[in-house]
Amino acid sequence: MRKLIAAAALALSACSTASDEIASADSTLPISPPPIARCMNLGSALEATYEGEWGYTVRREDLERIKAVGFDTIRLPVRWSAHALEDAPYTLSPDMLARVHEIAGWAETIGLNIIINVHHYDALNDAPEQHEPRLEAIWDQLAASFAGASNLVIFETLNEPHTNMSVARTDALNKRLMQRIRLDNPDRWVILATANWGNLDALEASRPDYDPRVMLTLHSYTPFDFTHQGAPWADAPRTGVRWGTRSDLKEMRADLDDAVEVQTQQRMPVVVGEFGVYEGVPVEARVRWTRAMRTEMEARGLAWCYWDYAGSLKAYELETETWIPEVKAALLD
Ligand code: GLC
Repeated sequence: MRKLIAAAALALSACSTASDEIASADSTLPISPPPIARCMNLGSALEATYEGEWGYTVRREDLERIKAVGFDTIRLPVRWSAHALEDAPYTLSPDMLARVHEIAGWAETIGLNIIINVHHYDALNDAPEQHEPRLEAIWDQLAASFAGASNLVIFETLNEPHTNMSVARTDALNKRLMQRIRLDNPDRWVILATANWGNLDALEASRPDYDPRVMLTLHSYTPFDFTHQGAPWADAPRTGVRWGTRSDLKEMRADLDDAVEVQTQQRMPVVVGEFGVYEGVPVEARVRWTRAMRTEMEARGLAWCYWDYAGSLKAYELETETWIPEVKAALLD
């Protein structure tokens, strides 16, 4: 089916751009190896409107600890929409920019890649026509501000578009953002947002332009009723959902095979940018799923970012300042 679509796209090439054809059709294009392998999400910090409000403030020693156990990358979710003017020119708060530069500087000194994204832009999902120009202006400023940063700094256009941000709308927005980002950052790695909360169906339906320094992304909390049981913000059962039968594992493998298929079709690496299990789930069950995900992703050469370090799906316990040993082992041993 996909080949038929590609052939039809080629036949229509007079109406489309060169990169459109290449993205779906040219199977000889190299798939660049992703610059990251094992990555940790620093959720609950700059993801909140004010850092610290959700109980976690990023510290330099956290980055050192993450590096020391074998991660090569951190992903830093940032709620930029709460730190930009509401009206044009949508100026970003200098304090917030300075804070993200501080953390990026630590990462560069320590030798970790750092993915900087735009997280929780809820109003954009509700009213894209109104908010897309604001996001474009936010990216103009971020792209200019980080133009001189090392190639350890990686951009991610937007976290989990949904609701009115359809696949087509997200693809179109990604294209515009890439054009702007590339003006100042011709070689920087960029992760493109995937619609429908980063789900597999949206990843498969997306038609991004080929770029040798772009990664696509999948967020996988499947089955959600298992990974989010008991989580107060989630529409999931409170408790009692199990995972780990032969057929559960088969489904996990099939999804990851599909992600690899997208990679092969689009000629760009896929990173699993979020996966994890709510902290309220018994640790043996959390670890069974997490270890299975990690080993199945690595068996397929897929890069991954665990969600998250010290938030509600945590791998690290701030109260005791220790890793949760079972979760750490599931990710790294
Ligand atoms: C998404 C949300 C984040 C949440 C996570 C796990 O990234 O933006 O707030 O903690 O998924 O549910």
